Amino acid sequence: MPNIIAHRGASGSAPENTLAAIRQAARDRAGWIEIDVNISRDGIPVLHHDDDLERCSDGTGLVIEKTLSELQALDSGSWFAPAFAGEPVATLQECLDLCSELSLGINLEIKPCSGWEIPTTERIAEVINRAPRLPPILISSFSHIALLEAKKRLPTLPRGALYLVAPPDWPQLIDELSAETMHLHANSLLTRDAVAAFHQRKLGVFCYTVNTVEAAEHLFDLGVDGVFTNYPGTLQQHFSS
Ligand code: G3P
Ligand code: MG
Repeated sequence: MPNIIAHRGASGSAPENTLAAIRQAARDRAGWIEIDVNISRDGIPVLHHDDDLERCSDGTGLVIEKTLSELQALDSGSWFAPAFAGEPVATLQECLDLCSELSLGINLEIKPCSGWEIPTTERIAEVINRAPRLPPILISSFSHIALLEAKKRLPTLPRGALYLVAPPDWPQLIDELSAETMHLHANSLLTRDAVAAFHQRKLGVFCYTVNTVEAAEHLFDLGVDGVFTNYPGTLQQHFSS
């Protein structure tokens, strides 16, 4: 993964987890995007962060309660800015196609409703396994169950363990998952020694969500390999100049 990843797409400049945010990430020269993936009632993987629809669309209720066609009838852009009115919910398939076209890598965060970890991962794996072409993909999740299922169903794709703060038994968890990266909250008490300990276990270290140059500089100084940011254009401009 490169060191600057567009969080939920370029979500500071366009509505998060939409194709518009992915296109903006490419214009910002992000290289990779992070997206959150849940499933609809009829089992279609869609990009959406929250369990419910209220914050990021004009819908109500839970994503898992709606069919894909019900989700596609919603406006997922107006909540962000009038310029994005009518932006639809994106499917994972549309995201894979667009990222292939734009040469963007994807950190696919599995974001299941509680209790739906296995079916959500199964449906995501089906879409990925039947795709005719794929961009580079790294799977991550806060859910250990989802990551174990991804290990089984998508064995060739690398996995990242996602935590707020690394738990005390992280070495054991990492071994179970055969994870290659560790994704931690930017304020996760990270120290240079902690980063060195992860590196010693051959883990790449990535932090979310890092929206200022100063915060990114501090983390890179600790040895962190990459940051998830809502403003990839700002960070890219600073660090590539
Ligand atoms: O994957 C990094 C980050 O996206 C995890 O937190 O809540 O923004 O999905 P969240
Ligand atoms: Mg996420």
